[in-house]
Amino acid sequence: MLVDIHNHILPGLDDGPKSLEEALLLAENAVANGVSHVIATPHHKNRRYVNSPLTVKQAAKWLNDELLERSIPLHILCGQEIYFHNDMLQNIERDILCLGDNGKYLLLELPTYYFPTFIFDILLELQFLGYTPIIVHPERYDFLKKDKQLGYELVRRGALFQVNASTILGMNGLSLQRFAKDLIKHNLVHFIASDAHHYKERPFLIKEAYKYIQKKFTSQYVTYFMDNAKHVLEGSFLQPIPPISFKN
Ligand SMILES: [Fe+2]
Repeated sequence: MLVDIHNHILPGLDDGPKSLEEALLLAENAVANGVSHVIATPHHKNRRYVNSPLTVKQAAKWLNDELLERSIPLHILCGQEIYFHNDMLQNIERDILCLGDNGKYLLLELPTYYFPTFIFDILLELQFLGYTPIIVHPERYDFLKKDKQLGYELVRRGALFQVNASTILGMNGLSLQRFAKDLIKHNLVHFIASDAHHYKERPFLIKEAYKYIQKKFTSQYVTYFMDNAKHVLEGSFLQPIPPISFKN
């Protein structure tokens, strides 16, 4: 079983595939990467797209039926990539879909250009409500690159980090790749995911990313990342490796 916890495979909901045909090509690309389960995470509340739990569930059911009909061995589960906003706790039960719809892990995208200081309060509230927040592609936020200790603080206070496979492979530039590796070295990465959008332009790449990590780090990291993704799928508890401060 290989699980991808962040991608935009559902057609017509966001900046992912524009048609069923494109979604099926992306699904075939996932299978070619050895992926058996994808948790589809369309953008939610990022100023351009709103995708309610019901919309996501209907789209996932439709795509699952089409995959079954074509004997493409891929299972789609539901999720959202939730843009972080200060009123996200209001209506959380109705508006927010956990990864795999099992009530535990949430995928959170942070604002690109500024660090929302109130995030620490919201992290606390989310955990109090029983959710574990997963912050997507920390390597892409300049404020974390400039202040690495802030990343450590977020993890220390209960957030988990997901790095993109394309970053690991250096496709988003050397500086992001270096930062992602630095995060891994400090035990601040808990997942590698594809953030796939398109079968050609932004494909899965997860198989290659894992191969790269095995070569540059150890196979234990690969097992850790893969097991963590399975825990998300099952909604079960995962034990993060203690983070290492940048001040040591
Ligand atoms: Fe995404």
